[in-house]
Amino acid sequence: MDNNKRPENMERITTPALAEQFIQEQVKEIKAQVGDKKVLLALSGGVDSSVVAALLIRAIGQQLVCVHVNHGLLRKGEPEQVVEVFRNQMKANLIYVDAVDRFLDKLQGVAEPEQKRKIIGAEFIRVFEEEARKQEGIRFLAQGTIYPDILESGPVKAHHNVGGLPEDLQFELVEPLRLLYKDEVRVVGDALGLPAGMVYRQPFPGPGLGVRCLGAITRDRLEAVRESDAILREEFAKNGLEGKVWQYFTLIPDFKSVGVRDNKRADEWPVIIRAVNTKDAMTATVEDVPFALLQHITNRIVNEVKGVNRVCYDLTPKPTGTIEWE
Ligand code: XMP
Repeated sequence: MDNNKRPENMERITTPALAEQFIQEQVKEIKAQVGDKKVLLALSGGVDSSVVAALLIRAIGQQLVCVHVNHGLLRKGEPEQVVEVFRNQMKANLIYVDAVDRFLDKLQGVAEPEQKRKIIGAEFIRVFEEEARKQEGIRFLAQGTIYPDILESGPVKAHHNVGGLPEDLQFELVEPLRLLYKDEVRVVGDALGLPAGMVYRQPFPGPGLGVRCLGAITRDRLEAVRESDAILREEFAKNGLEGKVWQYFTLIPDFKSVGVRDNKRADEWPVIIRAVNTKDAMTATVEDVPFALLQHITNRIVNEVKGVNRVCYDLTPKPTGTIEWE
């Protein structure tokens, strides 16, 4: 039997009872696979890695070693939430790596988008590798591979996390979600007691805010992206748009324009808001956000976010725009 092929008669996990049944089966399977050995997991705090972590904690507790790399490009509150949920609440064995300076130093002055992505990806592997080498007795690597990853990557396993580790760190894989679709992963996450904000979060690119701080990343502009994004998310949540709009975020281009602050002309950045709906991210339409809400968000951003004097709403569907700007 092909372990990576979803059986035709496999029931779709749509209810808490079906999720519980899946969890119990997986706990048994994981225990049988892992025995008393240790398992390493790169825990980003995204849906897939969070659900894998919660499942493995249920199955093998302290034999799981989670590594959370804070690369400085996460959204406001995300690293704190990972620590709170996994270390404080679920009592997981969690290693938190503050790699913010490392990443931002490496990215300094780099403006080309693909180069930025490469640096972020390569540095992530390096940090993870260093942490893996500090651990003794690791025999397995857990990954949040889900069924669409397998379908998209064909015979080559290419899930976003930690492909690219060197030869001597090629552990046996533990991929308990590999036959599930995203909606099923969320039902399982709910059943495992993860917070809704984690289970139902919108997609977030691996390079994070790095692709939303356009051009060469600077710390002050990155902070402005993070703060404006937090305001947008807060207002969307308050106004019933969270969970309704597929993806929404802010970005800041690498130029300033003149405005007026404290009765003086002042050069500051514009913030651009993007809010789109899509089924498969290949095409996308723009959310019809109420104008009054856009005005309210604009007021908050220009008053609360340092260095920002304008807010624009991107009205472009995909195509011709992409969802991200770089
Ligand atoms: P685009 O901008 O191509 O985005 O319309 C489509 C979807 O993919 C996400 N995206 C990425 N995800 N690494 C990721 O993991 C990336 O480099 C990346 N670039 C874009 C984007 O957020 C959207 O959901």
